[in-house]
Amino acid sequence: MNIELTIEKLVFGGDGLGFVDGKAYFIEGALPGEKVLARITNDKKNYGKARLIKVLSPSPERLTPPCPYVQSCGGCQYQHIRYTDELRWKELQVRESFAQTIRIDPTLIQPIRQGPREYHYRQSITLHRTAKNNQKPSPLAFIGRDNRSFVFIQNCLLAGESLQSVFKELHTLGKYETKRVFKIAENGAIVSSEEDKLYRIRLADELFWAHSRGFFQNNLEVTQQVVEELQNIVEMVKPSRFIDLYSGVGTFAALAGSQAQEIFCFEESIYAVECLKRNLKERQLPGAIFKGRVEQTFPNFWLGNQKEGSLVLLDPPRLGITYDLASFFAKADKMKNIIYLACDLQILIRDLKIILSKGRYQIKTIVPFDMFPRTKHLEVLAWLEQI
Ligand SMILES: C[S@@+](CC[C@H](N)C(=O)[O-])C[C@H]1O[C@@H](n2cnc3c(N)ncnc32)[C@H](O)[C@@H]1O
Repeated sequence: MNIELTIEKLVFGGDGLGFVDGKAYFIEGALPGEKVLARITNDKKNYGKARLIKVLSPSPERLTPPCPYVQSCGGCQYQHIRYTDELRWKELQVRESFAQTIRIDPTLIQPIRQGPREYHYRQSITLHRTAKNNQKPSPLAFIGRDNRSFVFIQNCLLAGESLQSVFKELHTLGKYETKRVFKIAENGAIVSSEEDKLYRIRLADELFWAHSRGFFQNNLEVTQQVVEELQNIVEMVKPSRFIDLYSGVGTFAALAGSQAQEIFCFEESIYAVECLKRNLKERQLPGAIFKGRVEQTFPNFWLGNQKEGSLVLLDPPRLGITYDLASFFAKADKMKNIIYLACDLQILIRDLKIILSKGRYQIKTIVPFDMFPRTKHLEVLAWLEQI
């Protein structure tokens, strides 16, 4: 069935939201203020999803997406809107998500931070095996917007300039690889997850060791802004201990924790730990490394080492932290400062609700960072203080 409606706002994820007879419909590609014709694709009791058929009156914010693959590729959700408006909507999504879930003084939510680039900011890309038969080599592609099809591309506007060469070559995966990650090293060379290799990467003036199969932040300029925010908090708090959970190669411990007398890093990846050791040693930082899963290593550590002067940084993967770990923080004694850095706003809110549930912390500040321009994703930092 087709519907005609006027779009009111862009919700988290980038869909336009409009109403027909009081019922909410989410429409990908539709912009606020636009009257659109759409076909209902999924009709639930309280809301529905619809596919945009025609924009009947376009918004002045609407742009022609510069990428020729945008309709089929699943990577970008905001190419059809001016970047300044994308930023405005993303900040509003953060404000609304908190207003609906966690009571917080809105002035504690800071304006969204942006980097200098709206395109070509990615330091790494992931391409996927396309052939079902894993006995044979397979060409590589991005996953399509429908989450099932593959998109073979010649260039990607999000990828850094040096990565464009990756799309020009025909790669084939080995029998057991399902995907391959390509990254840019400090010298401009491309390293891939096919290799088992340490490489150097530069963040502002600092060189780090990273691994071809491990994590490193993708948007370096915005990561630098995150580092500066962490440094500001550290300057205010002056912690005697900097505890970096999900520390990766130790980027934040090295750049923001170096003033603390003690540094503790918790990380499970063998690739990251190898680099972490080098990154701490090169800087002669007094760091102790706890290998393994944070949810197993950290609670025991804390119970034997509670200290008021600790600042705990959490930077987990997209899935966030476990319920048990969040509950541990909710009840922990002497946990003076926690900074939670999340790449998924809804997961951050889910975890904060548990951490705040015992009433032992207050939110000091929330800072959104547009780490992934033109996509639905954003990074959010939450600083909590025990009261
Ligand atoms: C989002 S990255 C953050 C890394 C680091 N803070 C940085 O900026 O480079 C998450 C890191 O957590 C690690 N990790 C994922 N699950 C973990 C777990 N349960 N316990 C410990 N480390 C984990 C990953 O290997 C990865 O290095």
